[in-house]
Amino acid sequence: MHTAVKNPGWSPDSWQRFPALQQPRYADPERLARVLEELARLPPVVVSWEVDQLKDELAAAQRGERFLLQGGDCAEGFADCESDTIARKLKILLQMSVVLLHGLKKPVIRVGRIAGQYAKPRSADTETREGVTLPSYRGDIVNHAAFDAGAREPDPELLLRGYERAAITLNFVRALVDGGFADLHHPEYWNLDFLKHAKLRDAYQRIVDSIRDSLDFYETISGSAVHDAGQVRFYASHEGLHLRYEQAQTRFLKRRERWYNLSTHMPWIGMRTSAPGGAHVEYFRGIANPIGVKVGEGTDAATLAELVRVLNPDNEPGRLALIHRFGAARIESALPAMIRAVRDSGRQVLWVCDPMHGNTETTPQGVKTRRFENILAEVESAFRIHEDSGSILGGVHFELTGDDVTECTGGARGLADVDLSRAYRSSVDPRLNYEQALELAMLIARHRSR
Ligand code: PEP
Ligand code: CO
Repeated sequence: MHTAVKNPGWSPDSWQRFPALQQPRYADPERLARVLEELARLPPVVVSWEVDQLKDELAAAQRGERFLLQGGDCAEGFADCESDTIARKLKILLQMSVVLLHGLKKPVIRVGRIAGQYAKPRSADTETREGVTLPSYRGDIVNHAAFDAGAREPDPELLLRGYERAAITLNFVRALVDGGFADLHHPEYWNLDFLKHAKLRDAYQRIVDSIRDSLDFYETISGSAVHDAGQVRFYASHEGLHLRYEQAQTRFLKRRERWYNLSTHMPWIGMRTSAPGGAHVEYFRGIANPIGVKVGEGTDAATLAELVRVLNPDNEPGRLALIHRFGAARIESALPAMIRAVRDSGRQVLWVCDPMHGNTETTPQGVKTRRFENILAEVESAFRIHEDSGSILGGVHFELTGDDVTECTGGARGLADVDLSRAYRSSVDPRLNYEQALELAMLIARHRSR
C-alpha cells in the first residue's frame, strides 16, 4: 500500500481506528469483504482530472469569481435512476444556473446531489413500531424502507447496486451534456412542461432571450463561438457517509501522488459525522478531492477552527467548502462567529449556504416541511452577513427536484399545509419543487443584481 506523501499516518482504511458513526452492521463480514473487493476492482465513476478541474473552479468561487450551485434530492432512491427523472433534475439545475449567471454576472458551477446520494444518516439505529424493533432504514445502498425484518437487514450486495446506479446515472448525464442538451444556445430544450405559472415563465423567458442575444452579439462581433456545448460542465456530489463504500473507491494516482475518492467529484461530511476526532474526518483528510463539511447549530468556533486545520492543512484553494445550515432564525446570531473563527485560523475556505436543513419543521398534522420564505430569508441573510464581515458567500446548496411535488410550502403558487398531501413523495427531507426552485433562483438573482 502506498503511504500518503502529504498525510502522515493516513491510509484509505486509517478511519477504522476512529469512532465511526452511522455505519450499518452487516451480519456476514465475509460477504461484505467480497463485495468490497469487487467494488475496489471496478472502474471509477469519475476521473481525477475532472476532480481537479472542479477544485480549480471552486477556488475561483472562493475568490468571488464564480458561484457554486449545488442541489438535488435529500436521498436518491434506486427507483430515481430512470431517464425522465434524471433529465428533469438536470434541467432544473441548468435553468437555475442560467438565472444565477444572469443575475450574479459570474459563471456558475453546477454540482448535483446525484449519482451516489444513496446513504442517509438517521437519528436512531433502530425503529420501533407496535412493539417490533428493526434496524433503521439507512438509504437504498444499505437496506430497504419497508418495515419488515428481511427488508431492513443491511445487504452488502446493495453497495454494488448503488455503484451501478451511480455510474448509469452519471453516464446519462454526461451523454445529455455532451450531446448539446446543456448548450446555452438552446435553452428551449430545458423547458419543463409544468412551468405553468405565467409570471415565472415570462420572467424566465426574458432571461433566456437576453442571454441568447448577448451570445449572438458577442459571436457576431468576435467571429467566434463563446460557448460550445462541450464547455458546460456538470459535477456530482454526495454525502460521504458509508465509509466502506467510499474507501473501496479510493484510488492512488501515481502521476499526482495523491489518493482520490473516485466515487464522486465532491463528497461532503454531514452534520452528524463531523466531529474532529471521528472516522469521517479522518477519512476525508487524506483524499485529494474538493470536500464539503456541514456547519450548523452545535458547531463551536474552536471545533470549526480545528476542522479547517485538519481538513485543509496546506490552505489549498478550492479544497474545503463550509456549508452552513443554521436556519433563518439563527443564522444572524451564529454565522459571524464562524466567519471570525475561520479568519483567525488564517485559512481560506469556500462559504456555501444550505438554507434547507436549519428550516425543517413539522406541521400540526405531523408532516415534515419547509417554508419558502424561510429558505429565501436564510440565503438573503447569508449574503448580507458575509458582505458585512468582509467575507464572500460563494455558493448555495438546495434540496430540490425537477418534479411537481408538494413538500415545501409557499412560493408563487402559495402552497399551504393542506396542499402537502397532494404530491408528497420524499422519504426523507422535503424538497423544493420545480417551480419553487426556479423562483428561488430568480429572487436571489434579482436581489443580488440590484
Ligand atoms: C443532508 O444534506 O441531507 C443532511 C442530512 O444534512 P445535514 O448533514 O446538514 O443535517
Ligand atoms: Co436532507
